[in-house]
Amino acid sequence: MKIIRHPLAMQRQARAWKAAGVKVGFVPTMGYLHAGHISLAHEARKRVGPKGVVVVSIYVNPTQFGPKEDLAKYPRDFANDSRLCREAGVDAIFTPADAQMYAGRGEGLYSTYVSEEALSQGMEGASRPGHFRGVTTVVAKLFNCVLPDFAIFGAKDWQQAAVLQRMVKDLNFPLKMIISPTKREADGLAMSSRNSYLSPDEREQATIVPGSIEFAREAVKLSKKPMAAASLRAQIEELIRTKPSARLDYVEFFDSVTLQPTQEVRRGTHMALAVFVGKTRLIDNGRL
Ligand code: PAJ
Repeated sequence: MKIIRHPLAMQRQARAWKAAGVKVGFVPTMGYLHAGHISLAHEARKRVGPKGVVVVSIYVNPTQFGPKEDLAKYPRDFANDSRLCREAGVDAIFTPADAQMYAGRGEGLYSTYVSEEALSQGMEGASRPGHFRGVTTVVAKLFNCVLPDFAIFGAKDWQQAAVLQRMVKDLNFPLKMIISPTKREADGLAMSSRNSYLSPDEREQATIVPGSIEFAREAVKLSKKPMAAASLRAQIEELIRTKPSARLDYVEFFDSVTLQPTQEVRRGTHMALAVFVGKTRLIDNGRL
């Protein structure tokens, strides 16, 4: 397994693969890898075939963190990440440094950003101003370094996947986007690098996050007619109040493709929520 640190070295390798007709599958991550990330690597491995290569990027992207967010304390463990990648049959890890990705940022020497202007407005975009501009910018940059035939993203970050799919379409990136299902712990909690912030007590209370989706799914199933989003939202607010360390940031009901909010919730409507458990912000989503 190669470890590539410089964007130019990554491009050189990518062009060599292209010239040799080698298919490239790409999984962008911020590291501190868990079984959710690794499931994306396995999916990539399966899709590139025996002659293709899988690249995983590990880069904690500063431009997608707000000034009060967890950039400095975002968990990192490169030794473990590279072991997991090797075990998953990854061919190369691309792990660039800030000095190369954003040389001169803050000194007037970096000034180009990519922003999607519709799907990125609500939910995570509303709660985390500037977040998606950082995500679209870094993913565009990573695509230009890795030159993949396809890239795989997790359904865990549903809005992110939708925003990036739109970017790929709007900016004519010559690659295929693949969305892979959310991996969960045995009790339903979606795997996340941020779960490591939770105390044991908070970890228990955090099951209310997938629990809220289950609750909504059951309510929709039992209801004979479409449910009013406002009343379902009120019930979920109440459910989340039963956990003393949990605080709802948002819960939304929307069309899974357009992300357009809906007042009427029925089977097939998508739900997403963000919940603070202690100081840790968790997100999850699912089809009802
Ligand atoms: P990160 O949070 O490290 O996630 C990397 C990829 O793994 C994303 O596509 C995410 O949706 C997926 N993922 C995370 N948890 C998952 C789970 N439990 N099951 C399945 N997939 C899961 O998302 C980012 O990094 C960044 O924003 C990035 C796209 C790399 C840009 O910096």
